[in-house]
Amino acid sequence: MASFSLHFFSPSSSSSSSAFASLLCFLLLSGVSFAADPFVSYDYKVSYITASPLGVPQQVIGVNGQFPGPLLNATTNYNVVVKVFNNLDESLLLTWSGIQMRRNSWQDGVRGTNCPIPPGWDFTYQFQVKDQIGSFFYSPSLNFQRASGGFGPIVVNNRNIIPIPFPQPDGEIIFMIGDWYTQDHKALRRTLDSGKELGMPDGVLINGKGPYKYNSSVPDGIDYLTAHVEPGKTYRIRVHNVGISTSLNFRIQNHNLLLVETDGHYTSQTNFTDFDIHVGQSYSFLVTMDQNATSDYYIVASARFVNETVWQRVTGVAILHYSNSNGPASGPLPVPKTDVSAPWSAMTQPRAIRQNTSASGARPNPQGSFHYGQINITNTYILRSLPPTTINGSLRATLNGISFVNPATPAF
Ligand SMILES: *[C@@H]1O[C@H](CO)[C@@H](O)[C@H](O)[C@H]1NC(C)=O
Ligand SMILES: *[C@@H]1O[C@H](CO)[C@@H](O)[C@H](O)[C@H]1NC(C)=O
Ligand SMILES: *[C@@H]1O[C@H](CO)[C@@H](O)[C@H](O)[C@H]1NC(C)=O
Ligand SMILES: *[C@@H]1O[C@H](CO)[C@@H](O)[C@H](O)[C@H]1NC(C)=O
Ligand SMILES: *[C@@H]1O[C@H](CO)[C@@H](O)[C@H](O)[C@H]1NC(C)=O
Ligand SMILES: *[C@@H]1O[C@H](CO)[C@@H](O)[C@H](O)[C@H]1NC(C)=O
Ligand SMILES: *[C@@H]1O[C@H](CO)[C@@H](O)[C@H](O)[C@H]1NC(C)=O
Ligand SMILES: *[C@@H]1O[C@H](CO)[C@@H](O)[C@H](O)[C@H]1NC(C)=O
Repeated sequence: MASFSLHFFSPSSSSSSSAFASLLCFLLLSGVSFAADPFVSYDYKVSYITASPLGVPQQVIGVNGQFPGPLLNATTNYNVVVKVFNNLDESLLLTWSGIQMRRNSWQDGVRGTNCPIPPGWDFTYQFQVKDQIGSFFYSPSLNFQRASGGFGPIVVNNRNIIPIPFPQPDGEIIFMIGDWYTQDHKALRRTLDSGKELGMPDGVLINGKGPYKYNSSVPDGIDYLTAHVEPGKTYRIRVHNVGISTSLNFRIQNHNLLLVETDGHYTSQTNFTDFDIHVGQSYSFLVTMDQNATSDYYIVASARFVNETVWQRVTGVAILHYSNSNGPASGPLPVPKTDVSAPWSAMTQPRAIRQNTSASGARPNPQGSFHYGQINITNTYILRSLPPTTINGSLRATLNGISFVNPATPAF
């Protein structure tokens, strides 16, 4: 049902009342609700700040002085206005990964549709999160800047009239996990441009913080994240891999992760002890604080599909702290259950992620009601992701051996 308020179309204006009446009639019949949906506005000042995520001060990209940036909180059908100030010394675009830019793809913040925001300038993005729900994130899309930060979470809540397909959680916690280098994006960019590999990352950050000192292999003086929880409560945990190339296994010691949402869709609810999250992916899990709080618990994000003996330093460790905890976490980190050295075993988890097509998404009708199975296939494309390739002396990621090149002028 359309819900718009009449003061957008002032009847006292010079337009004839019959024209107004037919416009009103058209709106009622067509169910247009765009103009009357609420607006939410943010100012994002993107600048370099100093942080020491791995114990050594370095330049990172902050949003409003925060690293990671602040939450962009919206609800289905909201109009989102973000004024982005570029206080960096090079061009910037912010992209809203996973948000579908219905009607206005020139707001999506990537080269090809958008002109970069020059240093010292600002640009106001405006888009509607039409018929969307779920967990997403924003990040810079140019110049390898994401390797230095500039990212932050996006939440699109259900409208009140549409129930979520699980009991209302007692709280929410967001984790932004990702591989991290102590070199900044410009140094990393130069390495790739000269045809060399970046090598093993220096660590994994969780919400911009380095690992808890779980054993002597972790240097002293690193500030780690503590998530505070109450015993018996259930939290919705949103996890985003905002890194540049490392797949990460996410797990919370002694706690199940009940998968409920990914990529803006509710899933069939399935318990996991640990979960592989690839770069760019976002997931929601329900986690019940059902342990006896003998001690704090480890939250771990460790490198996957690499030699984990060699990549030990590429492990993020945060702390889950019950309000009635009896002491710090200690002992070895929990190990992932799935053995990814066996290819078919590594496929078990992704194959268990299924959309719950009977759950309501953003609209009251169930998700997935498009009868895709009845649409005939007319074209088939095969995209092969291969290891990075040297093109004109630079190391580049490719699909089918072809790498993206920024167009000189935007396509639209
Ligand atoms: C997000 O916005 C909704 C209302 O639109 C509000 O109820 C909720 O508390 C907000 N969440 C956060 C984390 O600010
Ligand atoms: C799917 O969603 C429906 C509606 O909310 C819910 O009743 C059902 O339990 C869900 N199914 C699974 C497997 O999660
Ligand atoms: C998932 O595990 C929790 C315990 O952590 C349990 O209470 C719940 O029933 C399980 N849910 C499903 C769908 O298996
Ligand atoms: C708490 O749980 C742990 C792990 O399940 C168990 O080893 C320990 O004995 C329990 N402690 C108490 C006091 O119940
Ligand atoms: C991982 O690296 C270690 C140390 O270099 C080596 O001994 C081991 O064989 C490697 N494991 C695999 C599975 O390649
Ligand atoms: C530190 O922890 C890792 C992972 O749990 C383990 O492989 C390693 O042997 C430990 N190192 C030391 C020095 O205890
Ligand atoms: C799909 O192809 C079949 C066989 O050619 C045809 O009968 C059917 O109408 C097509 N369906 C659609 C939706 O175009
Ligand atoms: C490689 O460099 C040449 C000469 O500058 C240029 O014409 C060509 O487009 C470049 N190729 C790619 C894939 O960038």
